[in-house]
Amino acid sequence: MKSICLLGSTGSIGLSTLDVLRLNQDRYSVVALTANKNIERLLEQCIEFKPAYVVVVDQDLAEVFNKKIEQSEAADTTVLSGIEALEFVAQLPEVDIVVAAIVGAAGLLSTLTAAKAGKRLLLANKESLVVSGDLLMSAVKEGGGTLLPLDSEHNALFQCMPDGYQTGQRAKGVRKLILTASGGPFLDLGLAELESVTVEQACAHPNWSMGRKISVDSATMMNKGLEVIEASYLFDMPADLIDVLVHPQSIIHSMIDYVDGSVLAQLGNPDMRTPIAHALAWPQRHESGVSPLDFMLNKQLSFEQPSFDKFPCLRLAFEALNMKGTAPAVLNAANEVAVEAFLNKKIRFIDISKLIEKVINNSTIKSADSIDSVLQADKETRMLSNQYLESF
Ligand SMILES: NC(=O)c1ccc[n+]([C@@H]2O[C@H](COP(=O)([O-])OP(=O)(O)OC[C@H]3O[C@@H](n4cnc5c(N)ncnc54)[C@H](OP(=O)(O)O)[C@@H]3O)[C@@H](O)[C@H]2O)c1
Repeated sequence: MKSICLLGSTGSIGLSTLDVLRLNQDRYSVVALTANKNIERLLEQCIEFKPAYVVVVDQDLAEVFNKKIEQSEAADTTVLSGIEALEFVAQLPEVDIVVAAIVGAAGLLSTLTAAKAGKRLLLANKESLVVSGDLLMSAVKEGGGTLLPLDSEHNALFQCMPDGYQTGQRAKGVRKLILTASGGPFLDLGLAELESVTVEQACAHPNWSMGRKISVDSATMMNKGLEVIEASYLFDMPADLIDVLVHPQSIIHSMIDYVDGSVLAQLGNPDMRTPIAHALAWPQRHESGVSPLDFMLNKQLSFEQPSFDKFPCLRLAFEALNMKGTAPAVLNAANEVAVEAFLNKKIRFIDISKLIEKVINNSTIKSADSIDSVLQADKETRMLSNQYLESF
């Protein structure tokens, strides 16, 4: 039995992870679950999985939750609150596997803690790698644990790497990483049409069912940009050896182009339970609940170049990766503020990239050699972004 700490259990990745655990109850036990605000869903999960610990980050809601759980079948669960509690459960000695599925830079410190504690770290929270790439990869190395990517593209790349491959290394014989991208819901819209798209349209991804922030990121293609940065740190590859290829069907999840002309790809139905099951079971395999790929239903696999004009966020991400230092942290924080403002209908879809570009152009990029420098860049960028928001 392996014991699991699931950070962000109430989100889309959290739910998919619990689905896979449900199918493999003889292999896993749940030690800790965490949420921010969704205490109704968290209570249901506690009753079903009976974790020893649960974290409700919001302090007021934690008190409400405490009263509810005391009267439930999960009354033995210890309820904690606050950001420090996330770090506490991420390093518990009895935990073998930490699934990092909190959205945004809010997941940074708990992810780092799990890495330092030498856990098997299943990383969905791409923002933590974007914000603190070198620091997180060093923490994994020092902690002596294993980092396995859950993002479908990076999990696909990992699966196509040579036997015995560990993240953080440059694999021999790799010419390029090819990250596939669905292109999101606005792939076929013209620039002018993007001016009037709604929040509902941006959140309706054609192939994947995801949380609202990553859905908007997919629509702007910032998600792919963040993934380029994530891939660079995970696989030790520079930006110019990472290509993005639009593949609207989302059947090929990414590919590796080797120097001998071989291209290895991982294929499957677009369902996050596949990479989750892969990373949980690695180096073995077990059931995920995902139906087998039917080639007769997927006869057409097509590809096209992404447009930097239509999707400037992708260009901004490549530029931030090349700038290095705190540039990716600035990009990420400005994006989080911009997406939140778009979701709250304060700015238009096309303003997201404009705000991010303005913030980057007016920020001082520093060295990202400590967690304090990264957190400071994150804080200053959020303040600057909120200030600029008023002019939109
Ligand atoms: N969804 C996908 O298919 C997918 C695919 C690849 C990668 N990812 C990555 O996986 C991560 C999670 O994505 P998601 O789609 O699952 O997001 P989501 O559905 O929005 O869920 C986010 C989770 O994080 C928690 N959370 C939010 N703010 C928090 C805070 N300030 N402190 C602590 N916890 C907080 C939420 O709790 P409450 O629900 O209680 O608010 C929820 O459990 C993101 O980094 C995303 O980029 C997702």
